[in-house]
Amino acid sequence: MKKSFQADTLQLGVCYYPEHWPESLWEDDYRRMRDLGISVIRVAEFAWTIFEPEEGIFSFQLFDKALDLAHRYGLSVVFGTPTATPPAWLTHKYPEVLNVRRDGVQYQHGQRRHYNYNAPIYRELSARVVTKLAEHYRHHPAIIGWQIDNEINCETNVFYSEADHEAFRKWLKQRYQTLDALNRAWGTVFWSQTYTAWEQVHLSRPTVSNSPNPHQLLDENRFISDSAISYVKLQADILHRVAPHHFVTTNGLFGHLDSHKMTQEALDFLSYDSYPNFATIWPDEGPLPLLDRKWSWSLSVVRDISPNFWVMEQQAGPGGWVNRMAAPSPKPGQLRLWTYQSIAHGADVVSYFRWRTATMGTEIYWHGIHDYSNLPNRRTAEVQRVGDEFARVGGLIAGSTYVAKVGILRDYANEWDGEFDEWYGPLARRSEAAWFKSLQHHHIPVDAVYLQTDTTAAHLKQYQVLVWPHAAILSDETATLLTEYVSQGGSLVFGCRTGYKDETGQCPMRPMPGPVAKVCGVEVADFTLIDKRHPGTPLFWVAEMGDGETYADGFNDILRLSAPDTEVLARYRSTWYEGEPALTRRRVGLGTAYYYGAAFNYDVVASMLGILELKSPADGILDLPRDVELAIRHQSKTTESFWFLLNYADTPQTINVRQPYQDLLSNQTLQGSVAIEPHGVVILRR
Ligand code: GAL
Repeated sequence: MKKSFQADTLQLGVCYYPEHWPESLWEDDYRRMRDLGISVIRVAEFAWTIFEPEEGIFSFQLFDKALDLAHRYGLSVVFGTPTATPPAWLTHKYPEVLNVRRDGVQYQHGQRRHYNYNAPIYRELSARVVTKLAEHYRHHPAIIGWQIDNEINCETNVFYSEADHEAFRKWLKQRYQTLDALNRAWGTVFWSQTYTAWEQVHLSRPTVSNSPNPHQLLDENRFISDSAISYVKLQADILHRVAPHHFVTTNGLFGHLDSHKMTQEALDFLSYDSYPNFATIWPDEGPLPLLDRKWSWSLSVVRDISPNFWVMEQQAGPGGWVNRMAAPSPKPGQLRLWTYQSIAHGADVVSYFRWRTATMGTEIYWHGIHDYSNLPNRRTAEVQRVGDEFARVGGLIAGSTYVAKVGILRDYANEWDGEFDEWYGPLARRSEAAWFKSLQHHHIPVDAVYLQTDTTAAHLKQYQVLVWPHAAILSDETATLLTEYVSQGGSLVFGCRTGYKDETGQCPMRPMPGPVAKVCGVEVADFTLIDKRHPGTPLFWVAEMGDGETYADGFNDILRLSAPDTEVLARYRSTWYEGEPALTRRRVGLGTAYYYGAAFNYDVVASMLGILELKSPADGILDLPRDVELAIRHQSKTTESFWFLLNYADTPQTINVRQPYQDLLSNQTLQGSVAIEPHGVVILRR
């Protein structure tokens, strides 16, 4: 059962730092928050020195006052545990709590997240400050919940302190029991890496040409995730015990962290921090970049963990640190658009980062709703507009959930292994992006679907189509589950490099695609990397696609049919494997399995949508231009659906509404040709 936030209405929040401002500003800040429609504040996540100025001496005065006043203004509070920023006295006295780089250099005080999860004294001091805070604030009438730490595994997601090496050994002993088993799992016979005593075993350390043992690295990432989860659980258990009437969450999605497991084991739901203007710093590759719209994919991942969630930090201004990450201001309308992007994907509370831009420190260029001047501006006006809209329509939408008939499959093992493995990791990222972009442009809502140990065929069955672009690591159990999904009527699509690794990242001696060769009815007879020096081989579409042509990118598996009923839908058209199968289909039970021998690109996906008979739910109802996203939330209480139409373009976009529908936001009936303003939003009620 997924863990979701339960809300009666949509709410707006804001991240607020009373410790950054003179007390004389607080009251005016709270009054103006209420005027804008903001009802929640998130506080305290970096304030450890305020609560514990000296070791073991606790002080709550500043936040007592700030919270009492917030309560007088009817604001609810999410309280952040302050462990992302250990005080100077702590790291000075206990330097073993500091994180260390792979090359052995220790991080020092001066930024944040400079600690490690495994130093016993850090765990002890964290547990103590969290207990003190929970005991002190458990009955505060303003508090509704807790955020643990801030952005677990942000800033860095690798840890090499002595405490981590030590804990890794323990973790490995538990996983493998014997050194023999560890040596087998890591294939240490290769290059004489065999361990003969546990003390010789470490997390990866600097190696010649920076090329550590890949199986060790995969376990290292699993270990980092487990360490982070155990640290979050340490805090969550205290909060749940001392303040059982409050919710417990944490914010963000970061690397080397199984956020599904973390939420299941420790939290009440996951929260996310959404900064769509990172797209201006790291734009997506390929034609027609999605830019800020790409955040819809990250929101889809959050939704797979908690169908209804919080956005704890929603970008509310231009972004930048003093020395890095300079991003432009959100254009007029974008702040509202991004708020509804989060809502469309399942958020029920959106909290802006931050109320006012910091006037000191690393983030003086990371702007909040207000600039340094503290005067109303176009961003406050946008928040006000959203606040008014939430007051009118929030009760209808809250608790409804996103609807999709297509899923892109993922799992953490492939994500973590593919990060290091250049033969498929980069393919996975580009193929996933191609599928997402193409589905977006065709107005076909899609879910991110993580395969977990408890995933069942019944869960997968809700999807008409599942795509797993490059599942290099694929166990027999997962293959059985996926075969069951196909036999029960699902369409399943694999790409090249499927099924050639086991859980350790080693390559079993059997023909690829390993455990799904049978259901696909193919074996990989030969293969080659297609990189920039050897541009994609033209692919010739046969059967349904007539004589369309596109490129088979990244990698080419040359397929041999291994079942009498495997059909060839496309063949390669040049080089030494001209005429060999590139795309196959096999009907199995009530469903169909597809194998495509290359990485997916935008054109290939567009052609496959036809083969898969995938249509937008808007087909025959709405005509939508490419720049408008369609997202649908269904309210089971009322059986109503809300169709979010989000215009990401700088220009008005015209849609055609074939039958009259009410737009919730403007409260008008729309029919025929309707223009959506630049960065505008429409929510049709159906
Ligand atoms: C988030 C973080 C905030 C703030 C913001 C802007 O990742 O949680 O504390 O740093 O980025 O940089």
